Amino acid sequence: MSDPHLILAELRESYTRAGLRKADLDADPIVQFRSWLDEAIGAGLVEPNAMTLATADAAGRPSARTVLLKGLDERGFCFFTNYGSRKGQDLAVNSRAALVFLWKDLERQVTVRGDVTTTSEEESRAYFHSRPYGSQIGAWVSEKQSTEIPGREYLEERDRMLLERFPEGEEVPLPPFWGGFRLAPDRIEFWQGRPDRLHDRLAYTRHEGAWRIARLSP
Ligand SMILES: Cc1cc2nc3c(=O)[nH]c(=O)nc-3n(C[C@H](O)[C@H](O)[C@H](O)COP(=O)(O)O)c2cc1C
Repeated sequence: MSDPHLILAELRESYTRAGLRKADLDADPIVQFRSWLDEAIGAGLVEPNAMTLATADAAGRPSARTVLLKGLDERGFCFFTNYGSRKGQDLAVNSRAALVFLWKDLERQVTVRGDVTTTSEEESRAYFHSRPYGSQIGAWVSEKQSTEIPGREYLEERDRMLLERFPEGEEVPLPPFWGGFRLAPDRIEFWQGRPDRLHDRLAYTRHEGAWRIARLSP
């Protein structure tokens, strides 16, 4: 058997695909982000809208998990979840959060920091009803997301019950415990891998309403 520590020490990639200069960037980081997202979609990456969301509770204890970006405009980055989940509870007491997009095949990462608010009920309802029927039922099944359950059978039993309660073809109501969050960015950093770990890092920060771009040491 090979030693996993040796293997980990040997795993390394050289990043050679592209460079990133200040002059390449749009003055508006949302426009810049959309152009990188479009490239990630165009490159055929699997779930290019997957992002790591980091939150912290009232005591500052962090947690992170993957969610899907489901909306993006000048107001910020939207995702949908259960408001009573661990992330929902964190955000209720501490609205500061961070996102990480890793587009590995493009040797790119984008990190975002900002303040999170809930989307309007209309936005949550519109997105909820755009989901497939099974996912709408799934949101109801997992009413107590992030809490311990007795077993898989418990979920399957709830699924059967809710499929009966909300039959296919009729409108599934928006669960009162489910909806969107929007992260309004105050910092967005674009990272492009370069050879010899001399990566390009360009960070936008907001100063009195205007965005400033700085190059950071890799
Ligand atoms: C690729 C991927 C996408 C996911 N997208 C979502 C999502 O959009 N919303 C969500 O609530 N959970 C999503 N999850 C599940 C979360 O990672 C997590 O398990 C769940 O939301 C509970 O997180 P919490 O206990 O930290 O609140 C996704 C997981 C993966 C792997």
